[in-house]
Amino acid sequence: MNVIMLGPPGVGKGTQAMELSKICGIPQISTGDILRANVKQGTPLGLQAKAIMERGELLPDAVVIGIIAARLEEPDCESGFILDGFPRTVAQADALEEMLTRQGKRIDHVINVQAGDEVLTRRISGRRTCRSCGRMYHVEYDPPSSPGICDTCGGELYQRDDDREGTVQRRLEEYRAKTQPLIQYYSGRGLLREVDGEAPRETVLKSMRELLGV
Ligand code: AP5
Repeated sequence: MNVIMLGPPGVGKGTQAMELSKICGIPQISTGDILRANVKQGTPLGLQAKAIMERGELLPDAVVIGIIAARLEEPDCESGFILDGFPRTVAQADALEEMLTRQGKRIDHVINVQAGDEVLTRRISGRRTCRSCGRMYHVEYDPPSSPGICDTCGGELYQRDDDREGTVQRRLEEYRAKTQPLIQYYSGRGLLREVDGEAPRETVLKSMRELLGV
């Protein structure tokens, strides 16, 4: 099963993609995570991505298309994948369609998760992520047992550089200008499935499982 998670920053795409990945036994492919790993390692891609991400803007299409083209060739994608944060522009969606057609594959579902700006801003500002295992928390909705420490692995929790207030507004603008048109794009192809992202985590997951039949 090949799935795209679509939705604005902070709506819960990563949280739910991680759960669905475990349930379905297929990889979660997050362009944001791949870029952050490159920033951490100081690779040439990471050096290019750092400033753009901190401004809350999107990387050039060619760069992320290249990342995804290589990732989808890996053997763990054979039985399916969950794309989290890609595509984000019509050019990326067209490129994805082309690469999947070449591989004799197609997208089965596009889950569009939605929430209002106030909810998104609150979720982003309270998000904390484990440096070691990547587990996500929220200081208010899903706090760790001990502040700043991951319950799963004991790793340090940190706040993302692009989760500052000014950057969040820019990310929301980028979403509206460049990513929102994909709702129409996939709806026109009969692939769009809507989920209310403002509901509690468990409710959102249940809705997604029902939609995907897993
Ligand atoms: P990326 O990492 O993809 O960030 P994003 O799309 O802005 O999404 P987020 O990770 O902020 O949010 P999310 O929807 O995954 O929410 P989460 O589950 O964390 O991209 C970062 C940057 O990389 C981009 O700005 C761009 O520069 C670059 N980039 C990435 N992909 C690109 C591409 N394709 N093209 C070009 N550039 C690209 O949840 C948020 C918080 O809410 C957490 O604390 C969580 O615990 C909590 N939460 C989740 N669900 C619920 C719930 N139901 N109730 C209460 N709390 C909840």
